[in-house]
Amino acid sequence: MRAYELREAIGIDGVVLNPDRPTPGARPGEILVRVRAASLNYRDLMIARGVYRSGARPNVIPLSDGAGDVVAIGPGVTRFKVGDRVAGAFFPGWLGGAPSAEAISRALGGSVDGMLAETVVLHETGAIGIPEHMSFEEGATLPCAGLTAWNAVAEMATVRAGETVLLLGTGGVSLFALQFAKLHGACAILTSSSNDKLSLAKTLGADQTINYRETPEWHKKVAELTGGRGVDLVVEVGGAATLERSIRSTRVGGAIALIGVVGGTGQIDPRLLMSRAARLQGIFVGSLEMFAAMNAALTQAKLRPVIDRVFPFQEAREAYAYLDSGRHIGKVVIAV
Ligand SMILES: NC(=O)c1ccc[n+]([C@@H]2O[C@H](COP(=O)([O-])OP(=O)(O)OC[C@H]3O[C@@H](n4cnc5c(N)ncnc54)[C@H](OP(=O)(O)O)[C@@H]3O)[C@@H](O)[C@H]2O)c1
Repeated sequence: MRAYELREAIGIDGVVLNPDRPTPGARPGEILVRVRAASLNYRDLMIARGVYRSGARPNVIPLSDGAGDVVAIGPGVTRFKVGDRVAGAFFPGWLGGAPSAEAISRALGGSVDGMLAETVVLHETGAIGIPEHMSFEEGATLPCAGLTAWNAVAEMATVRAGETVLLLGTGGVSLFALQFAKLHGACAILTSSSNDKLSLAKTLGADQTINYRETPEWHKKVAELTGGRGVDLVVEVGGAATLERSIRSTRVGGAIALIGVVGGTGQIDPRLLMSRAARLQGIFVGSLEMFAAMNAALTQAKLRPVIDRVFPFQEAREAYAYLDSGRHIGKVVIAV
């Protein structure tokens, strides 16, 4: 089968197509999945560059996120049958409850093989059905970006109607978080470096938008938009570069879901968190149980992920480069 491999963590050039990788077989408890689509996350760029904290196994098949159909099942499999449409779980060992070191020790596209291949093997508890109304391309965006946003908005913060959520940028996680915030009846304030992207975000439900390039002191604008109160939740993807402003944007007793590091470096005064009695909570994707809850909500609301562009399999490296350019809004997908 054809599969990409991360031969060397030297950047996008280290992701190499192997036209003849042995096709795996399903052992007891495993399912064989013909992958139809995979999607990229910022993490995949970091792994390719060798700057992701937990690194990657040599020659690993990259990408945590993908969806396809079950083409064979191993002995003893009860959760799936041939023909089912499934996505892989980012953490195949985190089934439910609070995360443990053991549960998050294995992740697709890092310590175990990911989804950028024609065929993959998954344990039956490391896969989940994708919503019926979604295409494979759409289903392929759920395991990391979708679930992380769901965890922040619906599990960690339990956003309620009438609350206000702040979203940073228009990448995969932030646009899912926008959709989930609106689904829960919240008011959404969204920032971006691009006015075109902000216009698009408005059509997706953003109530207020701020260009963080034109308004570098955007926390002041957030304060103004919330009548001086601040937001109930910040979905923080910028990391150290944006965290201080995110804390300043949060209401007393509010919460910040710490997810990403796209903004680079910066300094934070920890007293700001204390003086707001605010909660800063790290989010690490989510469990299979949360994935099922998210799928139920997506199905009920017939929500569709925002896909910017779909690249053919042979142009996977161009897809990486496109994500790296930051020109995208929402998700970048690779058809397999
Ligand atoms: N902890 C977890 O479980 C988890 C899961 C998924 C992702 N992540 C992390 O979350 C981050 C986002 O991931 P992603 O896949 O959504 O990335 P992505 O699709 O590449 O989106 C990145 C977006 O971030 C925005 N951005 C960049 N610098 C910014 C800044 N200084 N202020 C505000 N926004 C800024 C840009 O939006 P504009 O172009 O609109 O300006 C850019 O498009 C990454 O650091 C990733 O590693 C963590």
